Amino acid sequence: MKDCNFAHTPYEKMFDRADVYGVAFDEERQKKRPVRLCIIGTGGVAVSKHIPAIARLRSIWEPVELSAICNRSERFGKNAASVCGAHWYSDVSEMLAHEQLDGAIITSPDSLHAAHAVQCLENGLHVLVEKPLANSLAEGLSICETARRTGRICMTVSNKRFSPPYYRAKKLIEDGRIKDPSMFVTKFNLGYNYVNILEGGTVHVLDLMRYFMGDVRSLSAAGVKKYDFNKTGYPFDSAVALAEFESGAVGTVYTSSTALSLKPWEVVEIYGEKSWLKVDDQYSLTLYDDETGPEKTWKPIVPNTLFFDEEFGGFMGLIENFCNAIRGLEAPLVTGHDGYKALELVYAFHLAVADGEKISLPLEIEYADRRINQILRK
Ligand SMILES: NC(=O)c1ccc[n+]([C@@H]2O[C@H](COP(=O)([O-])OP(=O)(O)OC[C@H]3O[C@@H](n4cnc5c(N)ncnc54)[C@H](O)[C@@H]3O)[C@@H](O)[C@H]2O)c1
Repeated sequence: MKDCNFAHTPYEKMFDRADVYGVAFDEERQKKRPVRLCIIGTGGVAVSKHIPAIARLRSIWEPVELSAICNRSERFGKNAASVCGAHWYSDVSEMLAHEQLDGAIITSPDSLHAAHAVQCLENGLHVLVEKPLANSLAEGLSICETARRTGRICMTVSNKRFSPPYYRAKKLIEDGRIKDPSMFVTKFNLGYNYVNILEGGTVHVLDLMRYFMGDVRSLSAAGVKKYDFNKTGYPFDSAVALAEFESGAVGTVYTSSTALSLKPWEVVEIYGEKSWLKVDDQYSLTLYDDETGPEKTWKPIVPNTLFFDEEFGGFMGLIENFCNAIRGLEAPLVTGHDGYKALELVYAFHLAVADGEKISLPLEIEYADRRINQILRK
């Protein structure tokens, strides 16, 4: 992802190369080794995010082929396969026996991530696994250990790391524009009553928190169940967590499934020495680094027909990074271990709310999985 790119045609392509949509022949990109992928479990996120991101990458000459779709549902499998000209299979083993694949994007339900990821890794594929990485810490660890043993790449879908405002925020920190971050504040709303908020949504900002601030040493939290909108019997509607990082920095996470969902969805603030930044709703990035001068804001130019949702959501950057990691051209920006640590933060959050204690990390796997099963009545 180019630094100047804020999810529409990069300046250099649009003006210097007179390539208004950024689709002119790109020889350098096109001569990279082709990568053949499959997607396992083509439901909502695969069809609306991963498949369009791959199509957009192909349209800008990235040699990535979506060869196969696996969905046990014939209706959804065939529909997804028809969209991208791939073969449909109802069973993973059958697909692996018939297709020559480099990697698998695993977008099946959470409870199947581990089985699908391990099967693909054991068959020599690299994997990109949707969040949350797994349905338990033990399963998450088994994915990471299988990847290590087989020497295959395991990435987790942390698409927000690749979304332009967060990507640029990370650059600002690396470039010293936010010096020595000491505090992280985030808010995440998700008002769908069929989704478990921490696993389904807050996990994204918990991953960002670790991405920007490093590992968490301890977490305290409190939650409230006032309205009981959630249909799955979730333990709370709204909750607040206080994190202490290994670096000595502190952070807070506010999350709610009962206020509005979309206005705004999420906010991230990072405070340093004499400067701070804010990413508002995964849309605008503002740097405040001058007591009396103006703030600096980056925003996409919308409404604008040159704006690419596939890119803004981070899915294009994520899949491009997965392909380049398979080719040995780049290191993964997010690993299976990162997915494991994000899941561990979700579980620490639950434990802190349920038991009213400050939770130290890393978690003891067997105890945490057992206690989480009781709390969530899995
Ligand atoms: N990164 C994000 O922003 C984001 C957004 C939404 C969902 N997700 C994650 O993506 C995953 C899928 O979510 P979704 O909303 O697309 O769910 P979904 O229910 O819409 O899709 C899952 C698909 O998997 C298929 N499936 C079930 N069992 C299968 C099997 N044994 N083999 C093959 N296919 C099988 C189902 O038929 C269904 O089509 C979940 O882990 C979810 O947490 C991530």
